[in-house]
Amino acid sequence: MNIQGKTVFVTGANRGIGADLVRALLKHGAGKVYAGARDLQTLPDFGDSRVAAVQLDVTRPEAVSAAALQVGELDILVNNAGVMNANSLLTATPADLAADMAVNYYGTVSVIQAFVPLLEKKGGGVIANVLSVLALAPMAQTAGYAASKAALHSVTQAARAELKPKNINVVSIFPGPIDTEMAAGLHTEKASPAAAAEEIVNGLAGEQEDIFPDPVSAQVAGFWGSNPKGLEHHFATL
Ligand SMILES: NC(=O)c1ccc[n+]([C@@H]2O[C@H](COP(=O)([O-])OP(=O)(O)OC[C@H]3O[C@@H](n4cnc5c(N)ncnc54)[C@H](OP(=O)(O)O)[C@@H]3O)[C@@H](O)[C@H]2O)c1
Repeated sequence: MNIQGKTVFVTGANRGIGADLVRALLKHGAGKVYAGARDLQTLPDFGDSRVAAVQLDVTRPEAVSAAALQVGELDILVNNAGVMNANSLLTATPADLAADMAVNYYGTVSVIQAFVPLLEKKGGGVIANVLSVLALAPMAQTAGYAASKAALHSVTQAARAELKPKNINVVSIFPGPIDTEMAAGLHTEKASPAAAAEEIVNGLAGEQEDIFPDPVSAQVAGFWGSNPKGLEHHFATL
C-alpha cells in the first residue's frame, strides 16, 4: 500500500521500534500518524503536526474503545506494543506468563477487534502485527514470550483469512534482535530500531505479507521457508 497521504495508527509509539515507525511513516509521506502510548508524557516530540497522540494501554478494554472512537478514519493499523516478562520456562511465574499474553496476545486482539470497523469504513486497509522470529521457533529462556508471539502469529494468520473479504490485508512482521530496551540484556548483533522501522515501512509499501526487517530475521526467513524443523534445532543451540 502506498503510504503517501495514508492515516496510520501505531501502538507503543513512545519508544523503541514504535517511535521509529512513526518517524519512518512520516518520512514516507503518511498524511496522519496516531501515536499510541500508555502515558502520553513519554511520547517524544516528533516535531510534525501530522502526529496525533492517543492514550492507549492495550490491556484496558475501555482505553481501546476510547482510542478507536478518537480516530476518525484509518488506513493502516500497526500493532507494535509488546512486552517480554517470562523467560525461563522453569522460573517464569504465572503472573509473568499472563503479563506477556495480556499485552502481546489479548491486547493486540482487542485492538484489532476495536479498529476493524474503522478500516471497513474506508473500504479496506492494512493491519500489521509486530511478532518476532521467536513466533516461528522459540529459544531457551524465551518460553512465555515466544508462546505469546506464537499465539499472535496464529491469530494473524486467522485474521488474514477472516478479513480478506473485507479488503483488509494482514501483515506479519518478524523482527530479529533490535537494539531497544526490550533487547537490552541480549548480547548479540542487533539492528537499529530506525533501520528496522524503515524496512517495515518499505515492506508495507511493497505489500509484503511477511516482513523480515533486519539482517538476522532475513536469514531466519530463508531457514523457516525451507526447513522449519532445522530452525527449531538451530534456535535451541543459541
Ligand atoms: N527489540 C527486539 O529485539 C524485538 C525483537 C522481536 C520483536 N520485537 C517486538 O517489537 C515490538 C516493539 O518492541 P521494542 O523492541 O521497541 O521494545 P520496547 O522498547 O520495550 O517498547 C515496547 C513498547 O510497547 C509499549 N507497551 C508495553 N505494554 C503496553 C501496553 N499494555 N499498552 C500499550 N503499549 C504498551 C511500551 O510502552 P511503555 O513505554 O509505556 O512501556 C513501548 O512503547 C514488540 O512487540 C516486541 O515484542 C522486538
